[in-house]
Amino acid sequence: SNQEMKNIVWHEVAITKEQRQKRNGHRSAILWFTGLSGAGKSTLANALEQELFKRGLSSYILDGDNVRHGLNKGLGFSDEDRKENIRRIGEVAKLFVDAGSIVCTAFISPFKEDRDKVRHLVADGEFIEIYVQAPLETCEERDPKGLYKKARTGEIPEFTGISSPYEEPDQAELTIDTGRLSVEESVEEIITYLSNRNIL
Ligand code: PPS
Repeated sequence: SNQEMKNIVWHEVAITKEQRQKRNGHRSAILWFTGLSGAGKSTLANALEQELFKRGLSSYILDGDNVRHGLNKGLGFSDEDRKENIRRIGEVAKLFVDAGSIVCTAFISPFKEDRDKVRHLVADGEFIEIYVQAPLETCEERDPKGLYKKARTGEIPEFTGISSPYEEPDQAELTIDTGRLSVEESVEEIITYLSNRNIL
């Protein structure tokens, strides 16, 4: 309640984000992967994070497995639950930015408004939206978990792209066409972007 919030006092932090970045030797950022189920978000985010880790950078990845089974256990796929899912992930990602790390997130994040809210949680240039683009037909053909098939029969309701909306980004820093580029080529494109922006 508001009454209880009044008794919470912010402590002045002894160590700043800048000090952490200086020690890490790179700036911090959120690499926000968004796209349809089966577009390749997790594959790309994991491959990129592997490369960042290999280079000795302070990196981390947030994706379905470590979030929807833990922090966000109990949230489903209604519009409201998806919004809350993304809001919490955004707040956690912000903590990683404060910790001086580069955090990759791999969630459908179907609503533009929710992605924009996360963008504004951090400083200019710290939120990098990466649209993992693949036509719905391609994702449906891949159907790695057989979910599209279940969505078509109605066994899974509110499935993104079938019975629940996906709002395409219109200000993504990067758009990766996974039908055209290999995983290696995509990782290279993102690394080049990060170097050009002096994040690495
Ligand atoms: S969201 O919209 O950002 O809150 O979704 P996210 O947390 O990324 O979870 C998406 C993964 O959950 C599985 N799944 C569904 N996706 C979409 N719609 C419905 N109804 C649904 N039910 C389960 C699906 O495997 C998604 O994984 P990815 O990796 O995207 O294929």
